[in-house]
Amino acid sequence: MVFVSCEKQKPMDKVVNDALSFSLKQYKHMADVMKDKEDLLPRTLDTVGNLVTAKSSWWTSGFFPGCLWYLYEYSKDGKIKEYAEMMTARIEKEKNNTGTHDLGFMLYCSFGNGLRVTGNKNYIEVLLTGAKSLSTRFRPKIGCIQSWNSRKGWQCPVIIDNMMNLEFLMWAFKSSGDSSYYKICVSHSDTTMKNHFRPDYSSYHVVSYDTITGRVEKKQTSQGASDESAWARGQSWGLYGYTVMFRETKLVKYLNQAIHIADFMIDNPNMPQDKIPYWDFNAPGIPNAKRDVSAAAVMASALIELSGYVQPELGKKYLEIAETQLRSLASPVYLAKAGKNGNFILMHSVGSIPGKSEVDVPLTYADYYFIEALLRYKSLSKK
Ligand code: GLY
Repeated sequence: MVFVSCEKQKPMDKVVNDALSFSLKQYKHMADVMKDKEDLLPRTLDTVGNLVTAKSSWWTSGFFPGCLWYLYEYSKDGKIKEYAEMMTARIEKEKNNTGTHDLGFMLYCSFGNGLRVTGNKNYIEVLLTGAKSLSTRFRPKIGCIQSWNSRKGWQCPVIIDNMMNLEFLMWAFKSSGDSSYYKICVSHSDTTMKNHFRPDYSSYHVVSYDTITGRVEKKQTSQGASDESAWARGQSWGLYGYTVMFRETKLVKYLNQAIHIADFMIDNPNMPQDKIPYWDFNAPGIPNAKRDVSAAAVMASALIELSGYVQPELGKKYLEIAETQLRSLASPVYLAKAGKNGNFILMHSVGSIPGKSEVDVPLTYADYYFIEALLRYKSLSKK
């Protein structure tokens, strides 16, 4: 594609700096729009381009405040800090929510980043209360945190996405000294490694367990193309989750798992040249299937981190893939025009094609992991 070769002329640090300064402007406009919307957070655009907002209980609520914290860290702009505090406060009541496994996304991306960037001690209580709420979903008989409440004939569904909540619980372990959080994280990671992955290291989306015996009852999908397919964002969640678990525990089994997942994705014959995955590696209609920019953004961020944990040659390979992804995402094919796209940063993500929901739209989590990846890439040059 022509745009890729043009972008390649631009030095990587300029790609990154331009994308960050664009993101700052775009999300400042978004915050201007959101400031009077009481307790709501931005979510996506509808089919005619109107803003769709979410309540704090929706799984993506923490990403917008999380983006603002990253952008404050980058810019030190006081107005962005004010907005980050305002949007973060909108989510506080979720600390008592025991009906979801998504508290890592909701609270750690918002309050967690706020604590990391500002040291605001008031955020610690919110996070520890939230971690306690999340830990009530751990099922000792199964060895996993339950994702969704039982539905669709699933007694105890656990989705690969749930690997993303462990960073929050590992923070709770370090902060409180309570080793039960560490044990939950290791148990969940080990059980997921055993039951979610196929021999080629692609993963099932949903593994449901029998609550009496603790055994696997079904391996299926909810958001993928079929039960046996490799739903793209699910592969990215797994890659990111095991990379984090290696960082937090230094257990080599998690590093090896992350490497296997990365290699499945990178070497997949259905990975496009610009490295922005189709929404499912087995999507019908490839090469005309929809792309999922969110899967690319999560993967890029994970690969940048993983590149620092492996042998130099492999690290170089991972970083080159992440660079291609960042260049692609920062190109006009995927990056919005200033003031357009409802002030979201990236276009062309997919929420759920089987659910006919959020197809080829902007999503706050694509923006969040894109900004995170840009900042991670930028910090490499300081090392
Ligand atoms: N955790 C939900 C999703 O990735 O769509």
